[in-house]
Amino acid sequence: MIEKPAYDWNPRSDDVQKDQIAAYDDMRHRCPVAHSEYLNWSLFRHEDVVRALHAHETFSNSVSNRLVVPNGMDPPQHTLYRRIIEPYFNAQRMEAFEPVCRQIAIELVANLPRAGEVEFISAFAEDFALRVQAAFLGWPTKLHEPLRRWTRRNHEATLARDRTAMEDVAYEFDRYIRSLLMERRNAGASAPNDLTTSLMRERVGDRLINDEEIVSILRNWTVGELSTISASVGILAYYLAGRPDLQQQLREQPALLPAAIDEILRIHAPLIANRRIATAPVEFCGRTLPADARVTLMWASANRDETVFGDPDTFRLDRDPALNLLYGAGIHICPGAPLARLELRIVMEELLGQNSRIALASGQAPVKAVYPASGFSSLPLRVERPAKDDAVFSQ
Ligand code: HEM
Repeated sequence: MIEKPAYDWNPRSDDVQKDQIAAYDDMRHRCPVAHSEYLNWSLFRHEDVVRALHAHETFSNSVSNRLVVPNGMDPPQHTLYRRIIEPYFNAQRMEAFEPVCRQIAIELVANLPRAGEVEFISAFAEDFALRVQAAFLGWPTKLHEPLRRWTRRNHEATLARDRTAMEDVAYEFDRYIRSLLMERRNAGASAPNDLTTSLMRERVGDRLINDEEIVSILRNWTVGELSTISASVGILAYYLAGRPDLQQQLREQPALLPAAIDEILRIHAPLIANRRIATAPVEFCGRTLPADARVTLMWASANRDETVFGDPDTFRLDRDPALNLLYGAGIHICPGAPLARLELRIVMEELLGQNSRIALASGQAPVKAVYPASGFSSLPLRVERPAKDDAVFSQ
């Protein structure tokens, strides 16, 4: 029998928003396939999310009327664009970008107060994400502040489900990017030799990629980058602030950082969810979702499923990486994962190397971010460095 749309929970309620991770844990135990007005059908269990990820004929990504390259596409169209996108994150490009990324991290760490408290999200995590993104794409520094505002407004409009505001925000992004494309076109052969110029030369089938497609690709990368990287940096710093022993271990054995970062972000997801739409009726946990059901894959819950990870809060460096859904799985697996991993490793190397101690500030408590953001909207920290830098990792 097809399920009637009765609501099992309210994802926007104060209780959920106060502590999203705890609320999703509760839903996974109480109602792992849940219907709500705001997110429609949410899948909380690891097994169900993985099933949806690998059955892309039944769980389509074509959830919006807007062009979203490549996340809003299904094969065969999706495959065409993935072929264009993936080389931008290959090992060669990552190697070339590493020194640029490290320089940004070094400068930002140097700007932190040597002693005293700092609101780490606005003073560090957001700036790191913005500067790294702009440097990777070849965008001017004058775009940092508009992009910061754009990310906030995008989150607010999504939470409020304010379609007009969402359209306005998308339009605003389009304007910034179209003007960058125009500048490059006007410059002709003297256009900067950066990633944005390079994207303009890509071909889909027998034609050049058009501006609408370029803007959409860059929007998908920017949404992917700015909020998830800044949330990740906050989550990592908070986690280590509460665990001086782990901080010390990672300082002494930096080779453990990549696995440690993936594990901390499994425990506390920087990206809460992604969407699909069912192309046929499907059954989960004895509930039948109708064709056209909108389905939300809850990364922040699936990656904490006890049946796969045991106690979800136990930090372990020997987990099977294939089970961690931090960067998704299946055909939509994050193409930007090599860049994200590079950025997060470098920023943690610099933070741990140049600072003797990351600690929670004494007075104010951190404030958790609300959906669709994750991590913290405010994170008061002390990042204490010795007078003479004891840079363990940096040369
Ligand atoms: C910690 C940082 C990041 C996390 C946790 C993350 C996570 C994810 C996840 C879970 C997906 C799968 C979405 C789905 O199945 O619908 C995804 C897709 C994607 N990510 Fe990331 N991402 C991160 C950083 C980045 C960066 C830095 C970029 C590019 C600059 C990026 C670009 C993309 C794109 C374009 C897709 C869509 C791929 C497709 O649909 O084929 N992401 N990401």
